[in-house]
Amino acid sequence: MIEKNNQKNINSSEILGRILFPGAEIQKKVIELGNRITLDYKGKELLIVCILRGAVIFLTDLIKHIDLPLSIDFMSISSYGFNMHGSGLVKITKDLDENIEGRHVLIVEDIIDTGLTLSYMIRNLKAREPASIEICTLIDRAVRRITDLKIKYYAFKLEEKYVVGYGLDYKQKYRNLESIYELRTDTIKKDIETLKSTLNK
Ligand code: IMP
Ligand code: MG
Repeated sequence: MIEKNNQKNINSSEILGRILFPGAEIQKKVIELGNRITLDYKGKELLIVCILRGAVIFLTDLIKHIDLPLSIDFMSISSYGFNMHGSGLVKITKDLDENIEGRHVLIVEDIIDTGLTLSYMIRNLKAREPASIEICTLIDRAVRRITDLKIKYYAFKLEEKYVVGYGLDYKQKYRNLESIYELRTDTIKKDIETLKSTLNK
């Protein structure tokens, strides 16, 4: 797979490692997912709940391949601490505008790691009595999962790697890359050390 060579400025910092999922492969998976969702929800209306901010790029591509009447809404959640090492404290920082009671809700997320963010969210949304609620994630990193989550749709599975691109960030950057890249581990190691020393102060 040849990567389009038009994003040299973003990659110039040498923070990015190799490409794990090339843009073209992502697009293929997104089409497959869109087709599956279209079949599974035939005759129904969907309310797609996108988790800000990482899932926005995945959402905009995915809904173009879902041939159903649908609405979209957004929710923002913050987990306390550094992404990969959150303490499990989760807070809604932007709630939905739509009422979800009696509706078929599909949550669109970028990556599910420990599952803490999503299980908090599912519990919260189930209390609002939707007709159904399912999860569609771009990446499922199950190795660190500490909650029991049923993930109906995913595009990719991933092991212990921190990734950026196609919506996924590192310190709010790299979301605009068309492919998904591994972060160079020397970069994250430094950050983890910084975080540890901050927490110990
Ligand atoms: P969880 O609550 O541990 O499942 O955390 C999932 C959230 O952490 C995702 O919604 C992302 O925002 C963030 N996250 C986890 N792993 C990565 C990664 O490899 N790259 C970018 N963000 C990540
Ligand atoms: Mg997220």
